[in-house]
Amino acid sequence: MSAAPKRLILNLFEMNCVSHITHGLWRLPGNNRQRFNDIDYWIELAQLLEAGGFDAVFLADVIGAYDVFRDGPETALREGLQIPSNDPLLVIPAMAAVTKHLGFGVTFSTSYEPPFAFARRMSTLDHLTKGRVGWNIVTSYLPNAARNFGHADQIAHDHRYEIADEYLDVLYKLWEGSWDDDAVVADAENLVYTDPAKVRYINHVGEHFSVAGPHLSEPSLQRTPVLFQATASKAGTAFAGKHAEVVFTGGPTPAGVLAGIQAMRDSAVEQGRAAGDIKFIVQAGVVVGRTEEEAAEKLRAYRELASVEGRLAHASLPFDPTAHPRDITVREALAREGKSDAPGAAYLPQDQSVGEFLDAIATSWDEQFFVVGTPAVVADAIESWLDDVGIDGINLRQYHSFGTAQDFIELVVPELRRRGRLREAYVDGETLRERIFGGPARLQPPHVATRYRNGQNLDASALLETTSRV
Ligand SMILES: Cc1cc2nc3c(=O)[nH]c(=O)nc-3n(C[C@H](O)[C@H](O)[C@H](O)COP(=O)(O)O)c2cc1C
Repeated sequence: MSAAPKRLILNLFEMNCVSHITHGLWRLPGNNRQRFNDIDYWIELAQLLEAGGFDAVFLADVIGAYDVFRDGPETALREGLQIPSNDPLLVIPAMAAVTKHLGFGVTFSTSYEPPFAFARRMSTLDHLTKGRVGWNIVTSYLPNAARNFGHADQIAHDHRYEIADEYLDVLYKLWEGSWDDDAVVADAENLVYTDPAKVRYINHVGEHFSVAGPHLSEPSLQRTPVLFQATASKAGTAFAGKHAEVVFTGGPTPAGVLAGIQAMRDSAVEQGRAAGDIKFIVQAGVVVGRTEEEAAEKLRAYRELASVEGRLAHASLPFDPTAHPRDITVREALAREGKSDAPGAAYLPQDQSVGEFLDAIATSWDEQFFVVGTPAVVADAIESWLDDVGIDGINLRQYHSFGTAQDFIELVVPELRRRGRLREAYVDGETLRERIFGGPARLQPPHVATRYRNGQNLDASALLETTSRV
């Protein structure tokens, strides 16, 4: 008997800005990206995605401007490249109010804002969405973000993960340990809204944070939102093995993707979790048409308007390849700009010619997890990503809003359903975690968050010092 086909986790990749990844394409006819300031944009999008069977909309975020390329933010500003941009958390209630099932993945950085207020915001969202939120844990890679939050420069990469680890520890104490499930009794007769014996300080005193608690929100359906993360580094992989439930992965070849997945699974096992506790999602480019010609025509229109400069700025290139002859090497171009030792220079293909480098960036969409064609061709590719590469889901890259999602819903969703790769319908009342993992709404042992349940493992000595203030 053959097993049921693996089902696809289907998310739309979004950002509260004009140009998230497909730079230049906001100019496509009928593209709605300039409406991102308008609450109706988010309402219409959420309704479309839920009607189409998407699992979640996934909101990226950065908290600084891209100002490394050409030593300033001018290119990013001209391109609408993630600036102007708005807070991603604040559009979620609008979308939640007009949907019942759509999940929301939202990005927030652990590097700059302390955890207490964020814990409360996420609990609020989990309540308002009835358990439909996930959190994309990032440590922020933009130097400008550091300067926006009182730092002279970037916090060192691995140190950011150390801070993130303590940040998560504080959050788990607040989300999982501070309140018992039966703390709220709402006993009008005896005037007891909350039983004080079932709420506690967390009294976290660590290297980076001191947080007394108690958490201000009562327990929400999921308590801890579904934990997403994107990483490939050693420190990030160790962090994901401990904390992440869903990881964004990628790589130039299927073998590279598989190696990354295996490293992440090994890291989970080292943390006492099961290898299968982490699911893997990739960013996918899908250009679909009723015919091959229609799909090719869409791709041609996208290519025509795509901005290479936008990609150069997005990549925070430490030099400007457009300012040099095509036949000199990247190394020579860097030297001419006095940028040979600039951050990021070591990762560039320095022996490549500037011309080849630019061409590679211009066609960098033709990578893995990119497919152009009819619904059958697209579904074949997605099945292969699921079965041969071993991923669990996609974040659909938008070329046109709402065209990309509409095309996928109209043409690809029915084909995937026919092949048993997508749910036929939502389950009423399901939380995002239940949807993705098919298990309970809350994190389960041995995930590290659960060690604080019912107040276990909170610092008892610190508790004594402050009990009189409860
Ligand atoms: C699909 C995907 C989405 C990402 N979204 C964001 C984001 O919204 N905000 C952000 O600051 N970083 C984002 N990142 C970057 C990651 O958080 C991280 O900085 C990057 O993967 C490098 O991690 P590493 O240094 O641990 O390898 C994203 C990465 C990927 C692959």
